[in-house]
Amino acid sequence: MKIDVLLGLQWGDEGKGKVVDVLTPHYDVVARFQGGPNAGHTLEFEGQKYVLRSIPSGIFQGDKVNIIGNGVVLDPALFKAEAEALEASGHPLKERLHISKKAHLILPTHRLLDAAYEAAKGDAKVGTTGKGIGPTYTDKISRNGVRVGDILFDFDKKYAQAKARHEQILKSLNFQYDLAEAEKAWFEGIEYLKQFHLVDSEHEVNRLLSEGKSILCEGAQGTMLDIDFGSYPFVTSSNTVCAGACTGLGVAPNKIGDVYGIFKAYCTRVGAGPFPTELFDETGKKIRDLGHEYGAVTGRERRCGWIDLVALKYAVMVDGVTQLIMMKSDVLDGFDTIKACVAYRMNGEEIDYFPFDIAEGVEPIYVELPGWKTDMTRMTSEDEFPEEFNAYLTFLEEQLGVPIKIVSVGPDREQTIIRYTEE
Ligand code: GDP
Ligand code: IMO
Ligand code: MG
Repeated sequence: MKIDVLLGLQWGDEGKGKVVDVLTPHYDVVARFQGGPNAGHTLEFEGQKYVLRSIPSGIFQGDKVNIIGNGVVLDPALFKAEAEALEASGHPLKERLHISKKAHLILPTHRLLDAAYEAAKGDAKVGTTGKGIGPTYTDKISRNGVRVGDILFDFDKKYAQAKARHEQILKSLNFQYDLAEAEKAWFEGIEYLKQFHLVDSEHEVNRLLSEGKSILCEGAQGTMLDIDFGSYPFVTSSNTVCAGACTGLGVAPNKIGDVYGIFKAYCTRVGAGPFPTELFDETGKKIRDLGHEYGAVTGRERRCGWIDLVALKYAVMVDGVTQLIMMKSDVLDGFDTIKACVAYRMNGEEIDYFPFDIAEGVEPIYVELPGWKTDMTRMTSEDEFPEEFNAYLTFLEEQLGVPIKIVSVGPDREQTIIRYTEE
């Protein structure tokens, strides 16, 4: 059995949570492989809305196993709050959720370091989510991290050593802080974590595959935020690309099956960093208002713009996307014309590939397509799609070279249309 991977192809918030929830009935297991509580994945069904941070989006459906893999970074205090809220709303998870012992812990001091490093960068700050993601992955790579499995053995010593090291750095940065309250909540989170199945998830995942179980990996963030291939340094600190599923779960590359690449019919970005197709005018504001483009957790305003096919093609390439999923089509329902960026102008030259650095003066070159001017939110089958919408889909498929298999026309689980069902 192969493992399928669902990934954001833009700068995050493409709608991954919604689609993982829609696809979950077809799988036995849902697994997260990177990122942490910087993610905010929204699911809507039966009139309820949920936002998940660290817990996989398969958690709402029956007897599915949900795994937090070794590539994830976990904040015990935020995890406890998230898990308790789910349990309180009638969604038990203790038996369904397995957590890798090799996942790294976000310490309270990692969050302080995140804030301190951002403050030190001044105008060049990344605009992180402030959840300690960068400092935690930094400790992992520099071999100073504390892992979930460590809470079972000699934990106090490991925690104290890491904390002392962090406090030294904070002092050198003249960063003022009070740790007491955060530390208390954090240790309560550690005790809470002990009630869960703490597992060697690489063994579990490979055993499940050999038993013929199907696994869906849920990416967090998006390809353009990848530490290697994103718009560095305005990126997150993990590999959000498909290869991250191999290292973040312990599965070999030849076990990867379908790669679902998910994108919005337009484009958004939160935080700082280059965004070639960003709109600063009324159109951008209109997309933000119609798409409710505000952060799922922080409420931060998302920057909005037209779809960027240069960046998307790059994402399709590095991820090896086999099927595309287009989200938030309904947000463009009222537009007379829709623009799509097909190339960049850089240093007076037209280029159609994603260059080393888009920070310096990349100007988008657009083609214009007619809008469909139809309410799509109640559609249930592709037979109902207006001609102009089909033309937009065909145009994108030709540009990207991969079929669009799913179209989303609203936030609810039901507002999802699977295409090419006759295949
Ligand atoms: P994720 O991080 O990729 O899971 O995406 P977020 O949850 O951060 O952001 C996606 C937002 O768009 C959420 O508020 C969803 O409820 C909403 N959403 C998802 N699909 C659609 C859609 O097709 N149409 C509309 N209007 N909203 C959608
Ligand atoms: P989901 O999974 C959108 C952005 C932050 C910042 C940069 C680095 O919901 O799509 P970090 O805290 O990770 O060090 O911040 O990455 N970012 C996201 N943007 N969606 C996300 O997750 C994001 N997670 C991080 O805004 O620019
Ligand atoms: Mg999100």
